[in-house]
Amino acid sequence: MGFRAHILGAAAGGGLPQWNCGCLNCNLARSGEIPHQTQSSLAVTANGSDWAILNASPDIRMQLQQTPCLHPTGLREMPLRSVLLTNGDIDHVAGLLTLRELQPFILFATAEIHQVLADSPIFSALDPSVVKRETIITGLSFEIVKGLEATLFPVPGKVPLYMEEGEKVQTDLMGEQTVGVELTNGRSTAFYIPGCAKLTESLAKRLNGADCVFFDGTLWRDDEMALAKVGKKTGMRMGHMSMSGDNGSIKAFSNLDVGRKIYVHMNNTNPVLRPDSYERSAAEASGWTIGQDGMEIKI
Ligand code: MLT
Ligand code: MN
Ligand code: ZN
Repeated sequence: MGFRAHILGAAAGGGLPQWNCGCLNCNLARSGEIPHQTQSSLAVTANGSDWAILNASPDIRMQLQQTPCLHPTGLREMPLRSVLLTNGDIDHVAGLLTLRELQPFILFATAEIHQVLADSPIFSALDPSVVKRETIITGLSFEIVKGLEATLFPVPGKVPLYMEEGEKVQTDLMGEQTVGVELTNGRSTAFYIPGCAKLTESLAKRLNGADCVFFDGTLWRDDEMALAKVGKKTGMRMGHMSMSGDNGSIKAFSNLDVGRKIYVHMNNTNPVLRPDSYERSAAEASGWTIGQDGMEIKI
């Protein structure tokens, strides 16, 4: 038997619609013409009753409410056993503050990501005698939840936006600040990589042969935010490779043998969020699925 992944949130930081954004997609989502999406998070289980959540989004309260398999099973019992962080970005850690009601779970992260939390006293709201913080060394596998082994590995990325100092920021750092996750039950393998600046040769080699890859789908094109007149930043500056173009993920994955390719962490400007867009058809024609809230994948 395989395992299951449930997309709790398919959007990048801000979500769709983003509270202060009047771009085309945000307006369409606000008026109900395209589906809205919450912020970046994936839940996984091997047995259906014990779950791990990869990244705790600011929308986690609503995400849990919308996901019956994560509802309480008793007075103060529920199926969440662990939370894993792939970086220290706000869209991936702010939800921890919602999980503070004396509910036991294990919090997995690299030493560097744990340090980011330790530097913010607000996260001490998660009582360490209830929420155990376990430090994971990249390259060493561990049981993330019953029946499922995880291995973290560095992917090119940068420090969280709120930790940037000055304009000269290295956006393809390889270390502990941005990691990808390999998940396996011994038979099937999936990868979760919501942030990635570049598909290096070694990363491509690692992903080759996987049953499923959830991958950084932040932008369709690198200058998309400028084109939409919502900002000046490029995808590269934010540490995200785009879907399209010569340096894009569609091309980079085209020679890889991957069972299912699923985009997650879409920014609200991304045209693939419109089901009838040319870009959506182009991504799908290349074998990609555009992730969306509530999507469940058997792996
Ligand atoms: C990102 O994915 O680039 C970050 O979530 C951006 C942010 O923190 O707003
Ligand atoms: Mn993000
Ligand atoms: Zn918008």
